[in-house]
Amino acid sequence: MRLVGVDMKNEICEIIHNKELTLGVFEMIFRSENIAALAMPGQFVHLRVNTGLYPLLRRPISIHSVDKTKGTVAIIYHIVGKGTEEISKQVTGVIDVMGPLGNGFPKLAGKKCAVVGGGIGVAPLLELSKSLSHCDAYLGFRNCTYKVEAFENSCNKVYLTTEDGSAGHKGYITDQLKKNITEYDVVYTCGPKIMMKKVMEICQLNNVECYVSLEERMACGIGACLVCACKIQEENGEWHHKKVCKDGPVFNAKEVLFDD
Ligand SMILES: Cc1cc2nc3c(=O)[nH]c(=O)nc-3n(C[C@H](O)[C@H](O)[C@H](O)COP(=O)(O)OP(=O)(O)OC[C@H]3O[C@@H](n4cnc5c(N)ncnc54)[C@H](O)[C@@H]3O)c2cc1C
Ligand code: FES
Repeated sequence: MRLVGVDMKNEICEIIHNKELTLGVFEMIFRSENIAALAMPGQFVHLRVNTGLYPLLRRPISIHSVDKTKGTVAIIYHIVGKGTEEISKQVTGVIDVMGPLGNGFPKLAGKKCAVVGGGIGVAPLLELSKSLSHCDAYLGFRNCTYKVEAFENSCNKVYLTTEDGSAGHKGYITDQLKKNITEYDVVYTCGPKIMMKKVMEICQLNNVECYVSLEERMACGIGACLVCACKIQEENGEWHHKKVCKDGPVFNAKEVLFDD
């Protein structure tokens, strides 16, 4: 039975591996038959970072891929502070995980799709790209690249850019998307706000449906504390707040207001 809302239970999961892919970016695989069976592309897990009291709050990390046969789940994370640093130190043993949480990407049958990821934002797009019948990937990085091969194995075409030109085209991934946008019915994106805002504008100009995966700081992760509120526009034009953890993290781009 699926556990939802404030009743969501945590699970103690065996860590299978936790390795550095490139400078400061790690992949962890842990065992959870429950999460592997239930997870939908775009959902996330909420991790307790260690057994101590600091940092107290769990950290949300997207589900990168699942292996339902083995009952394992992979996440990719970037060390940006104490929580992610603590997670990176747990090479063996167990980790306390809540999930799968949130609403994933809607899959629209028979559509030509593109996934557009920037940096660590590529992580939640792999499982989605595997589940779509026609999907191209647009992957943008600053300098170090990761998981490009996995996208090559699951997508029709992969467009790669780096800001320093060390791999793929030199420049921004949004410039590549702009050239090909008329080929797509739907675009799914995750990455830095500035990139997602640009993707959203390109889609709007070309009447292409667009879904964005938002990142906000979180506390409970299950809709109980309001820490993750974001501004959403209804069809009647009125603005109000929704919870990224429970109503998202994926939203239709038409609803989202990105602050400048
Ligand atoms: C739904 C969701 C999915 C996510 N998926 C991934 C993922 O797949 N891989 C990954 O590396 N990260 C992901 N994140 C971001 C990740 O949760 C944060 O990087 C992490 O919580 C930072 O914890 P920390 O203790 O290391 O850093 P902190 O010390 O808490 O913060 C370090 C710096 O990062 C900023 N920061 C922290 N959390 C966030 C956030 N949620 N949004 C924007 N800035 C933040 C802080 O403002 C600060 O500048 C996701 C966040 C959300 C909400
Ligand atoms: S993190 Fe508590 S409501 Fe979203």
